[in-house]
Amino acid sequence: MCDRVGVLYAGKLVEEGPAADVFAKPRHPYTVGLLRCLPRAGRSKETGRLDTIPGSLPLPGSIAQGCIFAPRCKLADERCLKDAPPPYRVASAHGDQMARCHYHERAETLPRSTDEAPVPAASGEASPLALSARNLSKTFRVGDEDVRAVHDVSLDLVQGETLGLVGGSGSGKTTLAKLLLGLVSPDRGATLELDGASLPERVTRRSGEQVKSLQIVFQNPDSALNRAHSVRRLIARSLSKLAALHGQAKEERLRTLTEAVRLPERYLGSRTRQLSGGLKQRVAIARAFAGDPRVVVCDEPTSALDVSVQAAILNLLADLQRERRVSYVFISHDLHVVRYLSDRIAILYLGRIMEISRAADVFDGPQHPYTEALLSSAPALDGARAKRIRLPGELPSAADPPSGCVFHTRCPRKIGDICETETPPCRDAGNDHAIHCHIPVDELRALQRQES
Ligand SMILES: Nc1ncnc2c1ncn2[C@@H]1O[C@H](COP(=O)(O)OP(=O)(O)OP(=O)(O)O)[C@@H](O)[C@H]1O
Ligand code: SF4
Ligand code: SF4
Ligand SMILES: [Mg+2]
Repeated sequence: MCDRVGVLYAGKLVEEGPAADVFAKPRHPYTVGLLRCLPRAGRSKETGRLDTIPGSLPLPGSIAQGCIFAPRCKLADERCLKDAPPPYRVASAHGDQMARCHYHERAETLPRSTDEAPVPAASGEASPLALSARNLSKTFRVGDEDVRAVHDVSLDLVQGETLGLVGGSGSGKTTLAKLLLGLVSPDRGATLELDGASLPERVTRRSGEQVKSLQIVFQNPDSALNRAHSVRRLIARSLSKLAALHGQAKEERLRTLTEAVRLPERYLGSRTRQLSGGLKQRVAIARAFAGDPRVVVCDEPTSALDVSVQAAILNLLADLQRERRVSYVFISHDLHVVRYLSDRIAILYLGRIMEISRAADVFDGPQHPYTEALLSSAPALDGARAKRIRLPGELPSAADPPSGCVFHTRCPRKIGDICETETPPCRDAGNDHAIHCHIPVDELRALQRQES
């Protein structure tokens, strides 16, 4: 989108230059660190942990001397602590690039802060089913209209696997999450099973064991955490409620749980309003894990966080999954974030699953035309991007969805009247990959190869 980019740290412009050059050869260690935190195309929990930036932003005015990034910079030396770096300017491929770093020529040699060892994958293959949902629909009555937020969704989740849910705003991701959690009741005809046993639709009808087994982490931890309570009290409450622990046993579990979510002990006495977004999200994750859940639904848990904190939370979720064989339904509108953590991905549009496949296959194709458009608009930092597909028009109202294929009003690959009149079939693209489209899989593949 931008021709030039500026990178701000603690109120200072630490790097600035042509976007292509800053991304290809960043010259400030902070920029280098930020880029390494991002789950780039092709990265997943199996390829390695994401890097993070250690420490946190300095308080305003707390660094009177030297480079403001020095406390977090692994290249810092005596000179950095003494002399604030001036803006160094170099001529790069597309224009002038500026970086406030004494060692800007070797910024990219910044050592990693997080061990890159891959998180061993949950194999998925031989694992039993953890959660199964069939024919989930949800219609909200709004005024005199019926809003069909989720339409006939069926999905399975095996133990230790992550199913990513991707879709634009209003595609029904949160409603689907709430249906699984029993926080809203589905329309007639749905069935839910947890570990092979029938799961009541409403959370109020579920057993204590079922409630603790199925937990949620929201995008905004503030909505779930009482700001006036201390971190200790919030986690302890969940341990009493979900794990029925008291006294010494509760204290011990509180310690192991806060260690597991990498929440430093010094924060236990803090009120949540005093915590940063990343720390609050760790408290929310600790609470969700208090009763050793089988399935955790993560509804955009990192979209309110900066990329370094996001990387730390994604690493944490991957570690917890490996340690506890918990399954995730991981919701995000960011395909690369979803790809990083997911074993399988489902793409939602107007409350319907358009495509579902193993995570790598979503990128390799063939893709549903909506997925294709989503992928083309995902930011590629290495400059290698397919032509961006801009979808015409607005998202239709869920109260009045288009006939036939609900995507037909915006689909760049629409083949004719059939798209407007008939619900598309579910086509098998092999390897557990299903695409709902009138175009046969081979044709779709050929069309997409031709244009890539
Ligand atoms: N309680 C409700 N009452 C009426 N309509 C609702 C309600 N909750 C959701 N909807 C509608 O259902 C549709 C799906 O909403 P939902 O919040 O599930 O989407 P989403 O994919 O989570 O979106 P976002 O990415 O913005 O979080 C939208 O059209 C929304 O307006
Ligand atoms: S001047 Fe020193 S501390 Fe500051 S960013 Fe450069 S190497 Fe790091
Ligand atoms: S069925 Fe038709 S309108 Fe729908 S995605 Fe396929 S080509 Fe596009
Ligand atoms: Mg949502």
